Amino acid sequence: MGHTILASLAIWLFLAASADSISKRAALDDCLKTASVPTLASGSSDYTQSLKPFNLRVTFKPAAYAVPTTVKHVQDAVACGAATSVQVTAKSGGHSYASHGLGGEDGHLIVDMRNFASVTVDQTAQTAVIGTGGRLGDVATALYSQGKQAISHGTCPGVGVGGLSLHGGYGLISRSKGLTLDNILSADVVLANSTLVTASPTQNAELFWALRGAGAAFGIVTNFKFKTFTAPENNIVFNYFFSPSSATQLATALTALQDFTRNSQPPELNMRLFLSGFTTFSGVYYGSRADYDRIMNPLLQKMGISSGSVSTNSWLNTLTSFSNGALQQAKPYDTHETFFAKSLMPEYLSPAAITALSNYWNANARSNSRSWYLLFDCHGGKNSAISNVSADATAYVHRNATFKMQFYDRVSSGSYNTAWFPFLNGWIKAITDASPDVNYGMYINYADTSLTKDEAHSHYWLGNYEKLAALKAIWDPKKVFEGPQLVGS
Ligand SMILES: Cc1cc2nc3c(=O)[nH]c(=O)nc-3n(C[C@H](O)[C@H](O)[C@H](O)COP(=O)(O)OP(=O)(O)OC[C@H]3O[C@@H](n4cnc5c(N)ncnc54)[C@H](O)[C@@H]3O)c2cc1C
Ligand SMILES: *[C@@H]1O[C@H](CO)[C@@H](O)[C@H](O)[C@H]1NC(C)=O
Ligand SMILES: *[C@@H]1O[C@H](CO)[C@@H](O)[C@H](O)[C@H]1NC(C)=O
Ligand SMILES: *[C@@H]1O[C@H](CO)[C@@H](O)[C@H](O)[C@H]1NC(C)=O
Repeated sequence: MGHTILASLAIWLFLAASADSISKRAALDDCLKTASVPTLASGSSDYTQSLKPFNLRVTFKPAAYAVPTTVKHVQDAVACGAATSVQVTAKSGGHSYASHGLGGEDGHLIVDMRNFASVTVDQTAQTAVIGTGGRLGDVATALYSQGKQAISHGTCPGVGVGGLSLHGGYGLISRSKGLTLDNILSADVVLANSTLVTASPTQNAELFWALRGAGAAFGIVTNFKFKTFTAPENNIVFNYFFSPSSATQLATALTALQDFTRNSQPPELNMRLFLSGFTTFSGVYYGSRADYDRIMNPLLQKMGISSGSVSTNSWLNTLTSFSNGALQQAKPYDTHETFFAKSLMPEYLSPAAITALSNYWNANARSNSRSWYLLFDCHGGKNSAISNVSADATAYVHRNATFKMQFYDRVSSGSYNTAWFPFLNGWIKAITDASPDVNYGMYINYADTSLTKDEAHSHYWLGNYEKLAALKAIWDPKKVFEGPQLVGS
């Protein structure tokens, strides 16, 4: 008897909840239609394709999918979401590891910025206005075709300008030129109340601060104005092979690399150690071959590295050397992986942490036959343009992190088994347990689905979180731009 009542109550609650979301959805569809905001019809091939995120492990079903062609459409879409209490999410390249561009959960109104992809250079001023929906490879090509200009950005050509620039943007010229977000001069933003504003050091400066590191929670950026530079040519691209034979050998190499990055690595040198079944040490030096040899040879010797290749490349070939394929991107975009990933942004790795990391590699990673990797980007240090900015100057807080570490575990076909989560979780735990006194941030551009929202807030933004939460209450009091790990969620 009791059970029957409970069961009917549960069914009733379930039906009421679905009726509520169905009527919400209908109201949202009506609103978008009345405002003439272009949308993709559920079930159409474009819709199905657009719902495939870069990380196929993490998929979501939105309430509606808008593809605005004008700023007015973006404003109207935000108004429709706010009016019907449906959370609104901007999507640019769809490369978030946690599929935050699809909301990071079911039921959002997605505003796909694909039609905002223009690149317009002012060659005299060395600035460029770039739509947020562009992909990095296309943007780099367009910049170069307009007076050989360039900006600092990530290596993967399919990544979107929007997500990359609003949350970091590290690549193979960042030590010299700063992160992508360090080169934003201004942003045009549609706020939660649909107002269009410009954010810059002189207009809405606090919003500008928040956008550079935590942008997704504060509005929809339609375009950025960036500072550009003339692309360097004759760049030295290197790629060495490294096969540590023991935990001790790996620890020795990491210790040498960390010491070099913290104290001696010049800003013209950009590099990373890619630890996997097949380990490489690669990067770019913007300078002469003689200087390169003088700087690198002692380091290579300390790291125990002897074989590899060094070549001289034009700017576009430099980018292509790290892009895993052509810079220009297919439309529709259809590159995907199935993976779980995590990050660490340590101020430094203590000797105990390096030992723990190396032992874990020896005991658990070497024998793992999946396609895992641990990437150490040489991010900070005395001579890094990234570390040259103070931690409270932008929402991006990880200024003094020596390494930007990315832990990645993927399968080439089929689905990712949840039984595999402990592999990477355990690796991070081994490192952080070994040095409880070191502050370890994490990078939201490598969004980690295993973090609770409190963990996400504290690790992604460390000491900047409190200020961000206060700004969120000012700029988006009704939480129109929500997501499971965003500021204020
Ligand atoms: C293969 C690969 C390689 C990568 N390489 C690098 C690298 O070299 N360096 C690096 O720093 N990062 C790198 N990343 C990480 C990448 O920077 C992030 O995943 C980034 O957030 C992706 O941006 P997106 O626009 O493609 O993603 P999306 O999933 O579309 O968006 C990511 C987040 O940004 C928000 N957002 C997007 N556009 C807007 C907008 N216009 N206004 C407001 N919010 C917006 C979304 O709502 C979401 O929360 C790489 C990722 C992948 C998959
Ligand atoms: C750090 O900033 C100072 C002052 O702006 C500048 O002169 C110097 O070149 C910067 N160093 C790097 C590595 O960016
Ligand atoms: C490094 O940055 C973190 C985060 O902002 C901060 O807590 C720490 O004190 C900084 N360390 C140094 C030596 O400045
Ligand atoms: C929109 O929000 C901003 C930030 O809270 C505020 O300054 C502005 O007055 C609001 N505009 C309208 C029309 O309500």
